[in-house]
Amino acid sequence: MGRGLVNRLLALIAACAALAVASAAQAEDGYRLWLRYAPLEGEALARVRALPLVVHADQDPTVALAGEELVHGLAKLRGEERRPGVVITASRLARPLPPGSLSFECRDSAVPPGGAFAIKPADGGLRISAGEPIGCLYGAFALLRELSLGRNPAKIDLDERPAMPLRLLDHWDDPNGYVLRGYSGRSIFDWWKLPEHLDQRLVDYARADASIGINGAVVNSVNASPLFLTDRYIPKLRRIADAWRPYGIRLYICARFSAPKDVGGLPTADPLDPAVQAWWKARADALYAAIPDFGGFLVKANSEGEPGPQDYHRTHAEGANTLARAVGSRGVVIWRAFVYSAEDQTDRAKQAYNEFVPLDGQFEPNVILQVKNGPVDFQPREPFHPLFGAMPHTRLMFEGQITKEYLGQATHLAYLAPYWKEVLDAQTGRGGTVAQVIAPAGMAGVANTGSDRNWSGSHFNQANWYAFGRLAWDPTLSSAQIAREWAMQTFSRERGFIGKVVPMMIASREAVAEYMTPLGLTHQMATGHHYGPGPWICNLKRPEWNPCYYSRADKGGIGFDRTASGSNALAQYAPSVAAQWADPRTIDEDYLLWFHHVPWDFRTPSGRPLWGELVYRYDRGVATVDEMAATWASLAPYVDPERFADTADFLRIQSREARWWRDASIAYWQSINGLPLPAGTRPPEHSLDYYKALSFPEAPGE
Ligand code: GCU
Repeated sequence: MGRGLVNRLLALIAACAALAVASAAQAEDGYRLWLRYAPLEGEALARVRALPLVVHADQDPTVALAGEELVHGLAKLRGEERRPGVVITASRLARPLPPGSLSFECRDSAVPPGGAFAIKPADGGLRISAGEPIGCLYGAFALLRELSLGRNPAKIDLDERPAMPLRLLDHWDDPNGYVLRGYSGRSIFDWWKLPEHLDQRLVDYARADASIGINGAVVNSVNASPLFLTDRYIPKLRRIADAWRPYGIRLYICARFSAPKDVGGLPTADPLDPAVQAWWKARADALYAAIPDFGGFLVKANSEGEPGPQDYHRTHAEGANTLARAVGSRGVVIWRAFVYSAEDQTDRAKQAYNEFVPLDGQFEPNVILQVKNGPVDFQPREPFHPLFGAMPHTRLMFEGQITKEYLGQATHLAYLAPYWKEVLDAQTGRGGTVAQVIAPAGMAGVANTGSDRNWSGSHFNQANWYAFGRLAWDPTLSSAQIAREWAMQTFSRERGFIGKVVPMMIASREAVAEYMTPLGLTHQMATGHHYGPGPWICNLKRPEWNPCYYSRADKGGIGFDRTASGSNALAQYAPSVAAQWADPRTIDEDYLLWFHHVPWDFRTPSGRPLWGELVYRYDRGVATVDEMAATWASLAPYVDPERFADTADFLRIQSREARWWRDASIAYWQSINGLPLPAGTRPPEHSLDYYKALSFPEAPGE
């Protein structure tokens, strides 16, 4: 055995021992996410015990990580904390392998590059093959997932490739450690201590991301500090990029459009000014010199007061192209389509389409337009954004929000896979589903990770991080399948648990949509914290910041008329799609008040008048949360006491606050329509004035 091999073996064994010791000392505090690899039992255990481990110890650091993960994961699944398995080098992978071996082939030209992998029976065992080392790491995680789910290794036969090239997390983190719309503590990035000190959490984060196929992260907020473009930050960024590289995570930053002025000493940030262009080129060169695989820039421009090309009477395309030319073929510029100006007050939902569609075909090829799932702002329910399918000459990327700014933040349980799938599966009527439209680009999720021990503010919020990665890898996976695999890996494989927890998760987002904004109502959250109800708010400076702008509630009715008689936002959709939503009598009721202003006595398809239906939906949302709490209570035997209690507490909060949402909203609508409550309905617990007077100076993440 050569010295190199011996060293690698020793390093692997030490790493495994360290992992084993660390995990033994760990309580069930959620830190280990879905990567717990809880010991198997019965036949599943026997089958995994029969699988001798052979790791192809390629020199590549990513392959080494794949090996380590398998060694660690298999030992844990076998209930053997310390056994490292057998490690064999590439040169010693000569046939025949020991029967039942598990082998790697990470440079297999038969498998495409970009993370694809196959896991096939071979030599009486299993072989993971990939075109590139990262495929082997994804394959290792996939194999461990399959085994964790109790699958028989003899029956594992996978052939996978990611559905889209960019699978990113966007961190809305500031240099001072504050996380915008973050509900899980402080930022995981400690810029003060970098580059000398890199927190282990950043490595654990990259591992978790890689396990679900995430391959990039934008490390700072869209309301970007220009600091990230200074020389001082380059070594800090480089330290992180170096740590993430073996996990296949590319680092991106948000670029502040005015940075040439803010930190570049130039008198302007006009994107057509040659000095500005040279400045961006020099910045990109400096970043690439330090980080050869730097992903590129994400830009929020001319949106909510952020600087942008329109400050110089230039278009979004002119702005984006200046940065894109600076980056060149080395990376991408992701330009956000989340814009709404103070001047255009006809309908906020129409503005991004109006601004961007005329620019189709004008962007450099390495520009990607990042479009939120819906046309307003991550609401509990929105129809898909009309830009999807409307810019055939521009690559469009999907932006979802994993941190649940408008869906109960840390405490309310809302599993978001059904929410994202609603949009991904939607037919645009212009070249396929949303998932098909974004396939050449990718998906970005606003991350919900923070310094909380459980990473995501609640144990069930971890499911949204997991689901986002899995859907970016394969948007055809069903919400139930993702919930099932997450819950089995995170909590328990017992049927009695899975059979109840998966339906509970699937029902959860709908419950939130119903007790907050039923029937297509939107943005009824109180200003600032966006957590509780504020439908009465009507006096904010910009009309579209007010909940009353969205509800349009008056004595005569409720809802936003977006048909031809109103803002005609409907016309931004393909005719086949618009037709489904045009008639209030036939529209899917979930979108009714998004597209239509209807009288309070409008007869809904259920037969109930609109007012009765609205109250019914609020009540159903509340009842579902109560059922969720009861379901969880029945699952105590399957869950460790810590995570059980945390979740039970949060469900109690959710149950109380679902009532708050329902009662405050109903009290307000009644003050507008003057109607009695439908017979048998419970009246709001307090007066409208009581709800209006509540204030929350302690609200997080504003
Ligand atoms: C939401 C959020 C803001 C954020 C914005 C964005 O409006 O409340 O805090 O900056 O989205 O996506 O840029």
